[in-house]
Amino acid sequence: MVQRRDDGPGDAERSEVSGRPPLLSHDELVRAQAETLDTPRRRYGVLARVLFTTLDTLYGKKRTLSKFKVLELVARVPYQTWEQVAYIAITHMHNRVGLARRIYDRVRESREQQDNEQWHLLILEELIAGSGKRENRLYYFWVPQAIALVYYHISWLLFVLRPAWSYRLNADFEDHAEHEYMYLVTEHPEWETTPFDSDFAADYGSFDSVADLLRQIGHDERFHKEESIKALANPRFH
Ligand SMILES: [Fe+2]
Repeated sequence: MVQRRDDGPGDAERSEVSGRPPLLSHDELVRAQAETLDTPRRRYGVLARVLFTTLDTLYGKKRTLSKFKVLELVARVPYQTWEQVAYIAITHMHNRVGLARRIYDRVRESREQQDNEQWHLLILEELIAGSGKRENRLYYFWVPQAIALVYYHISWLLFVLRPAWSYRLNADFEDHAEHEYMYLVTEHPEWETTPFDSDFAADYGSFDSVADLLRQIGHDERFHKEESIKALANPRFH
C-alpha cells in the first residue's frame, strides 16, 4: 500500500499537492528497486552527459555517499529556478486569475520537489558525518557550490527560452539519480541490516534499514523524473 508521509495536524491539504513522492513500504521499495534495475536509462541529452562526465571526472566513477551528496546539492537547483520564474510570471499575469492559479500550482509543486531534494541532501550529510569520513573541503564544499551555480543559470536560461528543454534536462538528471541510488544499494548488502537512525526521520520518514532509506530516495528521484516528463506534455504556463 502506498502511504503518504506523516504531515502532522492541519496539513491534510498539503498532502494533496503534487510534487510530493509517496512513502513506500519495504516490499514496495524492493519491487521499485528491481523495476529500476530492469528499466533502461533514458537517452540522455548533451547537457546531461556533460554534467555526468564532469561529476565522474571530479569525483570518480565509484559510487560513494560523498558523490551522491554533490548530486543532491545540484538536484535542488532546477526546482528553485522553476519556482522563481513562475513567481515572476504571476507578477505579470495576476489579472488572469485562472492562469495565475495554475502557475501558482506549479510554484507549490516546485517547492515540494525542492524540499524533498533538501531532505535527501541533509540525510546524506548526516550519513557521511556518522561514517566518520573527513571530506576535502575544496572538492566537497566549494566545487559543488560552483557546479550548482552554473547549473542554476543553465536551468534558468533553458526554462525561460524553452521550458521543455529544462524539464527534459531534469528528467535525465533524475533518471540518472534513480538508477545510481538503486545500484548503490546493490553494492552494499551490509546496509540491509544497518538501522536508519536519523534526526530527520520525523520529517522524511522512518525505515527499517539504510538500504530501504536509499531505495526510497531512489524512488523519489523516479517520481520527480515522471513529474518532469508529465510537464513536458504541457511545458508552458498557458
Ligand atoms: Fe535527490
